[in-house]
Parts: sequence; structure tokens; C-alpha cells
Amino acid sequence: MTFEYAPAPESRSIVSISPQYGHFIGGKFVAGTKHFPTINPATEEVLSKIACGTKIDVDAAVKAARKAYVGTWSKMSGKERGKYLFRIARIMQERAREFAVLETLDNGKPIRESRDVDVPLAAAHFFYHAGWADKLEYAGLGTSTKPHGVAGQIIPWNFPLLMLAWKVAPALATGNTVVLKPAETTSLTALLFAQVCQEAELPAGVVNIVTGDGSTGALIVNHPGIDKIAFTGSTEVGKIIARAVASTKKSVTLELGGKAANIVFDDAPIDEAVEGIINGIFFNQGHVCCAGSRLVLQENIADEFLEKLKIRMNKIRVGDPMDKNTDLGAINSQEQLLKIRELTIAGDKEGAQRWSPECALPSKGFWFPPTIFTGVTQGHRIAREEIFGPVLSVLTFRTPQEAIDKANNTPFGLSAGIWSEKGSRILWAAQQLRAGVIWANTFNKFDPTSPFGGYKESGWGREGGRHGLSAYLKGVSHE
Ligand code: NAI
Ligand code: MG
Repeated sequence: MTFEYAPAPESRSIVSISPQYGHFIGGKFVAGTKHFPTINPATEEVLSKIACGTKIDVDAAVKAARKAYVGTWSKMSGKERGKYLFRIARIMQERAREFAVLETLDNGKPIRESRDVDVPLAAAHFFYHAGWADKLEYAGLGTSTKPHGVAGQIIPWNFPLLMLAWKVAPALATGNTVVLKPAETTSLTALLFAQVCQEAELPAGVVNIVTGDGSTGALIVNHPGIDKIAFTGSTEVGKIIARAVASTKKSVTLELGGKAANIVFDDAPIDEAVEGIINGIFFNQGHVCCAGSRLVLQENIADEFLEKLKIRMNKIRVGDPMDKNTDLGAINSQEQLLKIRELTIAGDKEGAQRWSPECALPSKGFWFPPTIFTGVTQGHRIAREEIFGPVLSVLTFRTPQEAIDKANNTPFGLSAGIWSEKGSRILWAAQQLRAGVIWANTFNKFDPTSPFGGYKESGWGREGGRHGLSAYLKGVSHE
């Protein structure tokens, strides 16, 4: 006998969404000129209208940020700056449920994840950096710790509030002021964060939020009044930004794509590894730059492992992101859904075998079932390109060296996973893997104290931890 889950919907009554938003500049909400809709990707319901930032808006935001930098923030002691960060962190915790519900409505991710991962981690980033604000001289980054000035920050849609926290918290702790642009499909939690800045009585202009699309992002990148650019998003746009700032004095950090290998050796604890592979690729619908999107599996355990993986995939609950039992929510946008479809069709055509559990997808909104491809070879597009969806490509290996060679055979190098019972093998593999973050017998674990960043086309610089502070200080080179 099987017991069915009863629906367990989270209420949305805690959030109030305005029909239209402007920008947050100089401590106030100012009206925009052009607007575009932001929708709930699970239902296609229009939630609100978001302003598309123009040159005038970006100019005003940069001016406000400069004024706040020169007049207030750069003169304030680290201890005083830290108090504001602590205050922001506490307000985020107090309003956690509101943030979680809003994030899920605007992004499509399961409420379980926004509630248990995105929002608590975002608050943790503010708490962690609040602690650094008055201790920068002791961070081992030299004694003259000077901020850049005004930081321009551009973030993606996969972890909207969390990426904001990764950007804003270290910038403020080190004494910079910011102009931040959220992604066009997920601006609402950034606009709620603007309210938190007001509630925390953060001096006007220290945080400015200009909404808009790539054209607004480009205005920020190319603005002569900005001293530092921090970007998270596609490798394609990362390259455009690198070119744009190459001939300027701007300092830049880029967190770009990935195609992480999750390597399972034959001595791995199988059930735990299955759970780790599931978490590695299906967490946040696979919209994760460090997702374990390539399973690199030792051949002698492949049949047993894949059978268990499929049994586990059958239990993944796909559907209403507001339901507390949902594991896999909606794809963030139609554009992203089309990209996932295109790459998976390429997988079929190139000869890999597709498998998905039977699951009924809602008729409205953007959905893709949890999917694995077996029989994948290194030349296949689904083994090389970032799919950024709930799609796992399975490759096999016979010797440990072959596993490493396959894992490293990618233009990216953001993360990797190793599953083995043998400590010496884990250490050996970790030394060979060209990836910024390596998890052993776990995956997708994040902590503000731990630096995060990539090799090769996955980006420049580190975010988080002591290393991440250096990106916001002048004359401190990245380690
Ligand atoms: P994207 O890189 O275009 O967007 C990320 C951010 O950059 C957004 O805020 C966007 O408005 C802004 N942007 C776009 N063009 C810009 C420009 N020329 N100058 C300055 N800012 C600009 O990513 P998109 O189109 O949403 O997704 C495409 C693919 O990128 C995904 O399928 C995925 O493979 C990858 N991606 C990777 C992310 C990561 O965390 N590594 C995050 C988002 C996307
Ligand atoms: Mg784009």
C-alpha cells in the first residue's frame, strides 16, 4: 500500500507585492520609465512590473553611491559598518518567511529550498561579513586595507537573494558602496532587500538597486564612475565584461559557469552516493553553476548504481513550488526551458539514452522532468556544455586516472565531487582535479566562511571567506 502525500501549500499571504516597482537610489524608491513584467514561472501569473534601468537611472545610482562613499561610508569605522551589517542580517532573519515565499513565487524554486537554504544562507553571509568589518587588518591581507570605492554588481536568477548577499555583504564590510542589478526574471527579493536597508537605517546611497536586463547591466559595467565590477552569470556575458573592463582601471571578479564531475568510485557507500548525486543535480532544478551535472561512474558498479539512482529518481516530487513537499520546482523562464530542451534533443541525436521517471507536469508554467542520459561520451554536447537544468549526463571509467582525465576534460573548473570510502584516494583525486571547490562524500554544501570560485572559464577570483574579502580591497591580489 502506498500513502499519497496530501497537499501542504505554504500561504502567500505574508508577502505584499506592489503592481509596479521603481529603482532604489540614494535610499529612496524612485519611479522608472519603462517597465517589463515579472512572472511566477510555475503558473505564468504576472506578479508585478519591474523598471528597466536607463542611463539616467544608472548615472543617478552611481552618483548616489559615490556621494555615500565619500561623505559617509568611507569615513565610518569598521565597527560602525559592522553594526549595520548585523542589523541587516537580523532583519533578514526576522523577515525570513516573507523572503522565502517571495523568492519561490518569483523564481519557481521549491519553498523548502528557499526557506531552508537561500534565505538562511543569505543572512549568514551578512552575519559573517559583519564580523570581519572591524577586523580587516587581521585577515592576512596586508595592513593597508582600502576599499575600491563604488562596486557595480550584476547577479543571476538562480539564487537571487543569496547572490545579492554574496555580493553586497563583503562589499559593505570592506567599506565599498554598491550599485546592484538583479536578474530581469527575479528582481522582487532584491527590492524587498531595499526595504530592509531602509529599515536598518543604512545611510542613503550605500546600497543602490537598479533593475533591468542585460542593457542595464552593460551600462553599469561601462560606467566610468564605477571602480569594481562583480558579476555572476553566463560565461558568455562574463567574456563580454572581461573585454569591456580590460582597458580600464576597474577591478573585476567573475563567477561563471560549470560542468562539474561527480566521481563515484567502486568503494563508495552506494546509498549515500546516490543521495549525493540526486542533490548534486536536482537541487534548485539544476540551475546551479556548481551542479554535479556529469556523473563519472566506475564501470564495475554502473549497473547497480544506475538502478538505485532510477529508483530514487522515481521518488522526486515535481510540481507546485509552494508545496512544502515539493523537491523539484519550475524552470525559471521559458528561455531557459528552451535551452534545456535544445541540449537534451542534441543528447538524443548524438546517441545518448534518455531516461526520466514518469511524472505528471503541470499544464501551465515551465517544467522539465528529472532526466538522466546514459551512454554519454566526452564529445557529446551534453557532456561539454552547461545545461543548467535537471539533467544528468552519465560517463563511466575503469581506472582512477581515467576518472580524473574525464573530470578535467572541460573548459570549466568550478567544482567537483568525489565519492569513496578511502581517504587516500579522496586526497589523491582532490589534488588532481582542476576545480575551485571539491566536495568529498557530500555535494552542494555552502558556507560563508568557505571561498568559492573557479578555474579556467569558470571565472576569476573568489567569493566568501577570507579570500573573498580581497576582491573588495585595493591592491590585494587574489590568492
Ligand atoms: P546571463 O549571463 O545573460 O545573465 C546574468 C546577469 O547578467 C543578468 O542580471 C543579466 O541581466 C546580466 N547581463 C546580461 N547581459 C549583460 C551584459 N552584456 N552586460 C552586463 N550584464 C549583462 O545569463 P542568462 O542569459 O540568464 O542564462 C544563460 C545561461 O547562462 C544559462 O543557461 C546558464 O547556463 C548560464 N548561467 C550561469 C549562471 C551561474 O551562476 N554560473 C547563472 C545564470 C546563468
Ligand atoms: Mg542572457
